Amino acid sequence: MMRFLQVFAAALVATVVSALEPTAYTASGKAIYTTPSGSRIVKHGSNVNLYAPNGTLLHVFENADGSGGGGGPLRRQSTSVGQIFAPLPVGTGANDTLQSFNGTFVVPPPPTTFESQLMFFGFGYTDLTDTGEVYTFTGVALQYGGSNVQGGSFYSGAIFAEIPVLDTYILASLPNSTEQLNIGDTVSVYVALQGILDGILGINDTFYEYFTGFSGPNGDQFPTLQSYDEDKPQIVGWRVEVEGAEQPSDYPTGPLVFKDVTVELTTGFPSELNWEIEGDSAADIDFEVVNGDPTDVEIKMTFPDASS
Ligand SMILES: *[C@@H]1O[C@H](CO)[C@@H](O)[C@H](O)[C@H]1NC(C)=O
Ligand SMILES: *[C@@H]1O[C@H](CO)[C@@H](O)[C@H](O)[C@H]1NC(C)=O
Ligand SMILES: *[C@@H]1O[C@H](CO)[C@@H](O)[C@H](O)[C@H]1NC(C)=O
Ligand SMILES: *[C@@H]1O[C@H](CO)[C@@H](O)[C@H](O)[C@H]1NC(C)=O
Ligand SMILES: *[C@@H]1O[C@H](CO)[C@@H](O)[C@H](O)[C@H]1NC(C)=O
Repeated sequence: MMRFLQVFAAALVATVVSALEPTAYTASGKAIYTTPSGSRIVKHGSNVNLYAPNGTLLHVFENADGSGGGGGPLRRQSTSVGQIFAPLPVGTGANDTLQSFNGTFVVPPPPTTFESQLMFFGFGYTDLTDTGEVYTFTGVALQYGGSNVQGGSFYSGAIFAEIPVLDTYILASLPNSTEQLNIGDTVSVYVALQGILDGILGINDTFYEYFTGFSGPNGDQFPTLQSYDEDKPQIVGWRVEVEGAEQPSDYPTGPLVFKDVTVELTTGFPSELNWEIEGDSAADIDFEVVNGDPTDVEIKMTFPDASS
């Protein structure tokens, strides 16, 4: 941590910031920025800053909360986003926040047709803007399909932050790794609190530091992302994005089940969570909360092919 704060300080005095360009666009025009594994994002005010692992400021995503004005819609709602989520019942104390959100899933059988569809089955947390819109979603994802920078007609493990207002994904990547996942693999994923900081970058405010990644024996073969948030996570859950899936066979041919999911707060396990489902018909996926108990959540996603 000390070293990171030092390089952070160095980043502050760097006079030249070379802004990144998107490395690719999805079919619907969402920008994908790739960044090395271990990169850090800092959410401060209405900006999301992206730092390389060595502390270099790579990019500033401005007005990421839609506060930039211009009178446009706050959020271009994609019709292919589905969510299963629960608001976190955290208190107002600075130390009352999400401790961890962990779970496992088994990589489902693949789609039988590939026509450049891109699917993210994301697992993570959401920060909201002051007006209650999605500011960022930060998490791990089972990805199927890809762009020219990552993925393909196979499953891969992705770590990403999404900024819906800017139609932007930030994807962390490891050099020389396809991040490929094999059918039937059991994969463990986590979001975990690393610390509550009194201030970083000279900003006198509380920051919540989270790591997002893959755990288990092969965990180090996947990227990680670190996040410093001025606000505590308000929601945990799944965010599914589907682009370019035209027919049932473009979807996984078996269900995707997340098991042994725990939602722990710094004050312990909440007695219950209120799970909500949104957009499942738009994404053409049947979402089911099999068990909602914060110590043992189970979520099942069933795809259109399952009924044929
Ligand atoms: C820090 O990392 C960035 C991104 O990987 C790289 O472009 C830059 O050259 C690095 N800077 C130093 C001083 O190593
Ligand atoms: C909250 O964290 C601060 C340090 O960040 C510590 O000084 C304080 O004692 C903590 N309060 C509680 C109630 O744990
Ligand atoms: C969640 O995962 C993190 C990282 O692997 C671990 O440190 C933590 O103990 C786990 N928490 C629970 C409740 O399993
Ligand atoms: C990636 O592969 C290239 C070419 O084989 C090699 O030069 C480089 O050292 C590798 N990088 C890492 C981090 O393994
Ligand atoms: C930081 O903010 C707190 C509370 O607003 C204040 O008491 C403290 O003096 C501030 N510290 C600095 C270094 O500005």
